[in-house]
Amino acid sequence: MVHKAEYLDIHPTEISSVLAGGYFHPLLREWQQGAQLHKKMFIFPLFVSDIEDEETDIPSLPNIKRRGVKTLIPYVASLVEKGLSSVILFGVPLTKEKDPEGTLADDPEGPVIQAIKALRKNFPDLFVMCDVCLCEYTSHGHCGVLYEDGSINRETSVRRIAAVAVNYAKAGAHSVAPSDMIDGRIKDMKLGLIKAGLAHRCFVMSYAAKFSGNLYGPFRDAAGSAPSHGDRKCYQLPSGGKGLARRALMRDLAEGTDGVIVKPSTFYLDVISEASNICQDIPICTYHVSGEYAMLHAAAEKGVVDLKSIAFEAHNGFLRAGARLIISYFTPEFLEWLEQ
Ligand code: PBG
Ligand code: ZN
Repeated sequence: MVHKAEYLDIHPTEISSVLAGGYFHPLLREWQQGAQLHKKMFIFPLFVSDIEDEETDIPSLPNIKRRGVKTLIPYVASLVEKGLSSVILFGVPLTKEKDPEGTLADDPEGPVIQAIKALRKNFPDLFVMCDVCLCEYTSHGHCGVLYEDGSINRETSVRRIAAVAVNYAKAGAHSVAPSDMIDGRIKDMKLGLIKAGLAHRCFVMSYAAKFSGNLYGPFRDAAGSAPSHGDRKCYQLPSGGKGLARRALMRDLAEGTDGVIVKPSTFYLDVISEASNICQDIPICTYHVSGEYAMLHAAAEKGVVDLKSIAFEAHNGFLRAGARLIISYFTPEFLEWLEQ
C-alpha cells in the first residue's frame, strides 16, 4: 500500500518528464502514430497523350513518363498487381490543333475519353478519376474561355468545364476533379451530372483550395499547358490567402462537392488542417505536386536527404494535418514500401 506522504513526494512533472517509455519499441512507435499511410489512400497521376504507343520521359519529373493508351495499359497492369487502387488522368493532345474553347478536352477520339474506356475495360476494380480543366487543350493555355481582353469569361468557362465533366462521366469516369479554380463550376457540374442522370455514380472532387506559385513547372512540361500569355493569378489563390482558401472550401461544400483537394501540400499544411475542420463530413485530399516531388528528388540526388525517408516524412505530415487521400507521383514507390 502506498502511504499518502510517499505518493505526494513524486511531483507530477517528474512522472510526465519521461516520454521515452512511450516509444522505445518499434511497435510502440507505430501505436503513437495517428493515421497510418495505406495503399488505398494513394491516387496516381497519369499523363496520357493521343499518340497510342508513346512512352516519353519527362526530364523535370523523374521516373514519370507520358504514355499513349496502348503503352499505358501494361504499365498500369504492373501497378494494379502491386495494389494500385486509383488514378487521376491528365490528357495531352499532341497531334491535333488546339482552339480557344478547348474542344479537344472531351474529343471522343481524344486521350482522356479513350483512356477512361481502356482502363475501365482492363481493370474493373480500378477507380478512375479525371482532372477537368481546359489549359491542356486551349490554344492560349489558360484554364477557361477568355474574353477578348484576355480575362476569364466565368459563365462560358464553367458551362464548358461542366460539359467536359459530364462527358468524362458518360465515358465511365468514377470521379471528376475540376482544377480550373473558376468560380461556380461545382454547382454547374453537379447540375449537369444530375440532368444527365449520372450524379449518383460520379464523385465530384473539387480542387477547392489551389494556390498559384512556383510548384507546377514540371507538370506544365509534361502536359504542355503553360499559358502563352500572363499567368493564373486571377483564378488560382495567392499563397498568403488563407481566408480566401477557407471561403473557397465553404463555397464548394455548399455547392455540393463530394470531396476537396488542397494543393500544393507541403507548404499548405495549415490549409489542409483548415479543410479538415471546415469540411469534416467529406474526404480531404491533398496533391503533392510536380514541383514538390522534383525538389525531393533533387535533394536526394545531392545527398541532402534519403529519398524513402523524406517521402514518408512528407506524406505522414499530410495525414497529421488532416488529409485522408493523397495524389502523389510517389505512388509506385509507396506500393513497394507499404505492406497494405
Ligand atoms: C491543370 C492542373 C495543373 C496541375 C493539376 N491540374 C497545372 C496548373 O494549374 O497549372 C498541377 C499538378 C502538378 O504540378 O503536379 N489546371
Ligand atoms: Zn488548368
